[in-house]
Amino acid sequence: MTAAERAQQAFTERFGTAPEGVWAAPGRVNVIGEHTDYNDGFVLPVALPHTTRAAVGRRTDGRLALASLQGDGAVVALAMADLAPGRPDGWAGYPAGVVDGLRDLLPGGVSVLVDTDVPVGAGLSSSAALTCSVALALSDLVAPHLTRADLVELARRSENDFVGAPTGILDQSASLLCEAGSALFLDTRSRTSEQVPLDLAAAGLELLVVDTGTSHTHADGGYGDRRRECEEAAMHLGVPALRDVPDVAALSALDDDVLRRRARHIVTENARVLEVVRVLRSDADPRTIGPVLSEGHASLRDDFEISTPELDACVAAALDAGAHGARMVGGGFGGSAVVLVDRDRDRAGAVAQAVQKRFAKEGYAAPRTFDVVPSAGARRLL
Ligand code: GLA
Repeated sequence: MTAAERAQQAFTERFGTAPEGVWAAPGRVNVIGEHTDYNDGFVLPVALPHTTRAAVGRRTDGRLALASLQGDGAVVALAMADLAPGRPDGWAGYPAGVVDGLRDLLPGGVSVLVDTDVPVGAGLSSSAALTCSVALALSDLVAPHLTRADLVELARRSENDFVGAPTGILDQSASLLCEAGSALFLDTRSRTSEQVPLDLAAAGLELLVVDTGTSHTHADGGYGDRRRECEEAAMHLGVPALRDVPDVAALSALDDDVLRRRARHIVTENARVLEVVRVLRSDADPRTIGPVLSEGHASLRDDFEISTPELDACVAAALDAGAHGARMVGGGFGGSAVVLVDRDRDRAGAVAQAVQKRFAKEGYAAPRTFDVVPSAGARRLL
């Protein structure tokens, strides 16, 4: 049975009627460009092969019913009229926020069953996979006039306004706009994007994801603090967003050391995205992006201060074992790292093993490692 059939069957069992279709949306890993999205900057994500599938069917009783094959299997159900930020909460808030954004087009309500293989809480955008699969489903069913860019906004609003997680548009854009075989070079200010071919295997390379198993959550704490610090730095510098700071020299106008370091991360990170894109567009050896990724990690660790001992240990062990580059990914405070490594089995295996060994030595739980092939964005499966 395919993953789509599994979702279809589970929907039919839970709701007593077949869904109108099954849609899938992937998680993402960002090659470079971390925390730049809410500073109007640049990002370069790829979609993971891992997806969330949403089986969806309209109802006639004015209710929203949500079920997940993960967790306790309970159905979350409420009247469409009762939808409000925080109601429902938990995982159900993400799809509910998307439904809420289109409630006028769904007078009879809707049932949604989701199933996922995107690691949750690993900094790999399981939440965007969830919102974007439902957004694409609902647009196919009741709002075909919406563009993918509109769906990015719909999914973002669900996270920001309904769930209360102050994220940018990196994850939703990756999930909806990425194409197989390419990274998505996105200017988050103009919203223009370009597919940058990324055939690492042809260059004898592999992009490993190491999930440290340490969880992060955006709705509380550090992520929002960083966002506020960036806004404050931009205000002091008199620019609309840190994207507009031309170079690090301009940061000497900031007296506050913390704000200066936060802003320096954003300025240097935007430059790193442009550098990586330049290399990937050229005939240069893609290995040369490795040190740029590692610089990105140092910047997130020292200037942005969102890394963790586990992520630092992972990056250090990978580089010691001969990786070309490594960095933490996503919002920070836990989650995953990416490692650029030669594809030959010995080297990739040795790097993964070195990370495992370092974790064992430090007494950390064993990390989960997998190799990423840039995969397709959200799509209809059935
Ligand atoms: C999270 C957010 C994104 C982005 C990244 C950091 O994944 O959801 O919007 O800010 O962190 O790059």
